[in-house]
Amino acid sequence: MAKIELQGLVKDYGKSRAVHGIDLAIEDGEFVVFVGPSGCGKSTTLRMIAGLEDISGGTLLIGGEVVNQREPKQRNIAMVFQNYAIYPHQTVGQNIGFGLYTSKLSKQEKQQRILATARILGLEPLLDRRPAALSGGQRQRVAIGRAMVRDPAAFLFDEPLSNLDAQLRAQMRMEIKSLHRRLGTTIVYVTHDQVEAMTMADKIVVMRDGHILQVGTPTDLYENPHDVFTARFIGSPSMNMLAGSLAGNTLTVEGTTIAGLDLPAHTGEVLVGVRPHDLVVGDATGSGLTATGLVEAVEPLGAETLVHVQVGSGQVIATAPGRVVPQVGSTVAVHAGAGSIYFFDAASEKALGRA
Ligand SMILES: Nc1ncnc2c1ncn2[C@@H]1O[C@H](COP(=O)(O)OP(=O)(O)O)[C@@H](O)[C@H]1O
Ligand SMILES: [Mg+2]
Repeated sequence: MAKIELQGLVKDYGKSRAVHGIDLAIEDGEFVVFVGPSGCGKSTTLRMIAGLEDISGGTLLIGGEVVNQREPKQRNIAMVFQNYAIYPHQTVGQNIGFGLYTSKLSKQEKQQRILATARILGLEPLLDRRPAALSGGQRQRVAIGRAMVRDPAAFLFDEPLSNLDAQLRAQMRMEIKSLHRRLGTTIVYVTHDQVEAMTMADKIVVMRDGHILQVGTPTDLYENPHDVFTARFIGSPSMNMLAGSLAGNTLTVEGTTIAGLDLPAHTGEVLVGVRPHDLVVGDATGSGLTATGLVEAVEPLGAETLVHVQVGSGQVIATAPGRVVPQVGSTVAVHAGAGSIYFFDAASEKALGRA
């Protein structure tokens, strides 16, 4: 069983620091997703866990043991790469079996393992096929099978779905998640795609510039982002931000009004955040924030329409329900109800609270 602990983990490439001493506990059986923009240190962190990258500082523990100096194959962890290198001239069975290349199991035991793995992944009928005769999703499963067949204590995935088209990606998200449910093995998964993080993770780790910004469940991060970066990174379209200022219980922001709300006790420049799905086109009802502005663009999505509205000097995206499609160039009111308005300090970008 493998709890994975990162204690002050550092990675330096020459003089430049890629990972700045991060602390994290990954519980046995957990599905943890590292998410953040390209270059923030996700792959480097994963590769340190795998043993593919030297650790410059701090401690890595697997199952309570320090493994900083341990070879990858002694860590009992399997990595599934983005560019899954399956061998074109080998069958599905041989490709899966390659994961057992260095294993001391008997030939019969190996065959059993390959069969059991293929069965779990729905590849049993394809065991004798070659990769060319497989779909993208099936090839992905073969790559996972090769990792699975070793029965590792944890799987590490580095952007495994980025080469797939949107539909297959959505399908594989659910397949990997259901695989995790069946196997119960710890998974550490790296992606720059917040949708993957939201839909797959038990626990999301948001990274930026080699630091961990926030750790939490998908709902946690969506509901209570600690800063502007996480607020805008999680959720799509991104949370709207308008510049304003707070003084006592009064808010000034781009000519909008706020009624009947308990504002955070803060004085100074703020960013006011509202998610597009909480900002509804139409006349104000009840307490909350109301603004009017010019419709700059509309994106009808069928069930709803995203409406881009110029509010003062700021731009926001609001939602029009149903099949209502406002005219570009018309003036609309947008309204966010109580509980859906976030405040951040303009200088530190830290969350101040919600009203
Ligand atoms: N082998 C390397 N040598 C030097 N710098 C590297 C190397 N690998 C990654 N980096 C740098 O470390 C930082 C983190 O990279 P990486 O972990 O690959 O980010 P991510 O996976 O989040 O996109 C980046 O600034 C990248 O340029
Ligand atoms: Mg990467």
